[in-house]
Amino acid sequence: MAVTKICCIGAGYVGGPTCSVIAMQCPHIKVTVVDISAHRIYQWNSEKLPIYEPGLDDIVKKQRNVNLFFSTNIEEAIQEADLIFISVNTPTKTFGVGKGRAADLTYVENCARTIAQVSTSDKIVVEKSTVPVRAAESILKILSANHKPNVKFQVLSNPEFLSEGVAVENLLNADRVLIGHEETADGLWAFKELSKVYLNWIPEGKILRTNTWSSELTKLAANAFLAQRISSINSMSVICEATGADVSEVAKGIGLDSRIGPKFLQASVGFGGSCFQKDLLNLVYICECLNLPQVAVYWQQVLDMNVYQKSRFSNKVIESLFNTVTNKKITMFGFAFKKDTGDTRESPAIHVAKTLLDEGAKLNIYDPKVEPEQIKKDLTHPYVTDNPEKVIESIEIHNNPYTAAASTHAIVICTEWDEFVNLDYEKIYEYMIKPAFIFDGRKILNHEILAKIGFQVHTIGKR
Ligand code: NAI
Repeated sequence: MAVTKICCIGAGYVGGPTCSVIAMQCPHIKVTVVDISAHRIYQWNSEKLPIYEPGLDDIVKKQRNVNLFFSTNIEEAIQEADLIFISVNTPTKTFGVGKGRAADLTYVENCARTIAQVSTSDKIVVEKSTVPVRAAESILKILSANHKPNVKFQVLSNPEFLSEGVAVENLLNADRVLIGHEETADGLWAFKELSKVYLNWIPEGKILRTNTWSSELTKLAANAFLAQRISSINSMSVICEATGADVSEVAKGIGLDSRIGPKFLQASVGFGGSCFQKDLLNLVYICECLNLPQVAVYWQQVLDMNVYQKSRFSNKVIESLFNTVTNKKITMFGFAFKKDTGDTRESPAIHVAKTLLDEGAKLNIYDPKVEPEQIKKDLTHPYVTDNPEKVIESIEIHNNPYTAAASTHAIVICTEWDEFVNLDYEKIYEYMIKPAFIFDGRKILNHEILAKIGFQVHTIGKR
């Protein structure tokens, strides 16, 4: 069998871009992305895609209705596929055992049940979602207990390592493609079939074969290590502020050591995004379930440092504004969790906004890609406020950075969008209330120039 039809369940930040790139690189394969959300599928079939990713629009426009299809007909897409990616969300549980830590596998399990119920031919089922170690075992058990006669399944683990904002680039030039399989002849066969798909553009040397459990754990480990680097440099930023050292100089100094390397050493307001926190919590929970408390505490600290960093930054804004922001107007530049995405999941901006709103501040918010409705939704969420009407009264969402900053006391930079670097800060200063403050939570601006203009500049990891 050669794979000629792929179904991807879950048309989100992973399923959408991944399958668009597969469709582009494998013109002989029909790729159908399905979702239970009719709205999401409608958006994928429209002019305005549900997610913003540089380069993605062009690929979708080229492949859509050629060999790339977005559909709500989940059963049909499963039935005709040789290979099925499970690419659904695996959020942190909000109830029951493991609440607030364990991964909620309801969506993955639902996929497995649907696949078992509707499949009338053999399938390779690929876990692309990030899951706890040994999740493939549960998927296989569900498939084995519910399948139709004479239908066989192989379950592979093929975690996704793309980074939002550079997803297309990451997918085209992946550092590695990791495939974990059952250690049997059938498992090896399934591995080879999935490899053949990737070999259309990924060099063979970059395809890494492991057992299923190593593959599942590697994804959690990768995110844990990445988050740990951010928390490590952020912990140094605290020492810098207390001593007069400069965290940018320290980062450069350590990054030149080839054993450490320069990437992911930018101190900031803290990490966000849908994955790091969720996957670390999941890892900590797994360690606790395995009765490994020392390991659990070690990784928990990476998360605690991130919470501390976000709080430190928000508190610095309040302290610097003479210990009160009540009724003061503050501009937030950026709401997405990082540049080049419209994704706000776990964005540090939400934490900063919440702290300022709790203190009675009024916020003018500008982000080049986040939809106003999303900002309102995030800031009126029960985790953020018990008074959503007051929040709506206290925020103004702008589509222009200059109007956003006019007549405000301070600018708080929460996202490292390139456009913030090149704004006309002299003009911005002119229309702000004096003394005018800038809090650069991403360390992207030229602080000397800003100080010369007249701004009171505060940043991270430097006095
Ligand atoms: P997402 O929330 O953007 O997309 C998931 C989609 O699955 C949603 O549209 C949802 O409606 C759909 N869905 C849920 N249950 C379904 C079902 N039974 N049938 C059909 N559709 C269903 O999530 P995202 O960000 O794409 O993440 C997916 C997985 O990939 C997660 O496990 C995540 O941890 C992992 N991941 C995410 C990365 C990212 O940068 N967002 C990077 C690498 C991995």
